[in-house]
Amino acid sequence: MFRFLTAGESHGKGLSVIIEGIPAGLSLSEDYIAEDLRRRQGGYGRSRRQKIEQDRAEIVSGVRHGLTLGSPIALYLRNRDWENWREAMAVEPVDAPVEKVTNLRPGHADLSGVVKYAQDDVRPVLERASARETAARVAVGAVCRRFLEEFGVHIHSHTVAIGGEEAPVEGEPDWEAVETSPVRCADPQAGERMVAAIDAARNGGDSLGGVVEVRATGVPIGLGSHVHWDRKIDGRLAQALMSIHAVKGVEIGGGFGLARLPGSQAQDVILPADQWGGRLWPRASNRAGGSEGGMTNGEPVVARAALKPISTLPKALPSVDLRTGEQVQAHYERADVCVVPAAGVIAEAMVAIVLTEAALEKFGGDHVDETLRNYRAYLETIGPRGGQE
Ligand SMILES: Cc1cc2nc3c(=O)[nH]c(=O)nc-3n(C[C@H](O)[C@H](O)[C@H](O)COP(=O)(O)O)c2cc1C
Repeated sequence: MFRFLTAGESHGKGLSVIIEGIPAGLSLSEDYIAEDLRRRQGGYGRSRRQKIEQDRAEIVSGVRHGLTLGSPIALYLRNRDWENWREAMAVEPVDAPVEKVTNLRPGHADLSGVVKYAQDDVRPVLERASARETAARVAVGAVCRRFLEEFGVHIHSHTVAIGGEEAPVEGEPDWEAVETSPVRCADPQAGERMVAAIDAARNGGDSLGGVVEVRATGVPIGLGSHVHWDRKIDGRLAQALMSIHAVKGVEIGGGFGLARLPGSQAQDVILPADQWGGRLWPRASNRAGGSEGGMTNGEPVVARAALKPISTLPKALPSVDLRTGEQVQAHYERADVCVVPAAGVIAEAMVAIVLTEAALEKFGGDHVDETLRNYRAYLETIGPRGGQE
């Protein structure tokens, strides 16, 4: 069984992760994981914190001489900002009282969190609710990406909208252009408009949301299952993407757009193999985003996530004080203006996690060679049935 758990507060000592279920024999290094952590920290519109942090995941266990052992993989990401928060986030009781945060921020876990966990200070809630936790998920996603590479699965993402600025999407995006764009947009003109929109939002004390798209290629047919609601791959992808901070909408393939089409234009016609370079079960289109009946169908998995604008605004919204119930300005803590570019990298991680879990369900294996043997044996069986009844 594949699973993982993260721990850590935004301004605590660091983030910890335990990953279970990755087979033995997979090559893995801290440098490999660092690359995705670096990508998460980039992007126009982030706060100064990203420059302080320069995340790196230390592999604490589960890897020896560059290969996974099949035992739990523990990772630790030190919070470099911790030095500035030693008192406020001390594990031991402190002598001098630390100022409480009592101005509730709309759009955050603040209000529900203090009520539910019986707190008189928002700090214990906001520290864990913060999207800092996504650094740990990206580290897990990098381990999963490494695993999926063994199957020829590759996962990319790009920004398709920031605020009201949209990028045209036709065919496969230019992934190199995405990685060099400050907003991770494949279209340079749209990227420039997005940068200008972020500048305008920052100057106006405001923030912006947007939409990212993730594409996973090389995904084998048959991950997930139609037989139970909680095994359906589209449902699992939606949950995983929706769990990213500030994500308020998820689409698989054509998504909401399919609702406006007649049925004749909303499906993906199955073509004879010889019409598509000998590929098995090719399709004329990919409106389903690689998922039918809760299973991958061999086409690229395509999912989109829509992020609301960042809730914490320099020009703070009116709110209420936790102690008095009276009106105040919402608490302002150094905040990003736009996190859409980073969200693409986080969304890649979540898709990698879901596909890894589903691939291990299907192919199993305690050593990665065993997993790959099972995978190759399966591929031998998936062609046309040769006239069987
Ligand atoms: C990478 C990333 C960074 C974020 N940074 C901030 C931030 O600096 N300020 C803020 O108010 N919200 C930020 N958010 C969004 C909040 O974490 C999120 O809106 C909040 O936790 C409430 O969760 P919800 O919007 O999913 O309901 C960020 C989200 C992501 C994905």
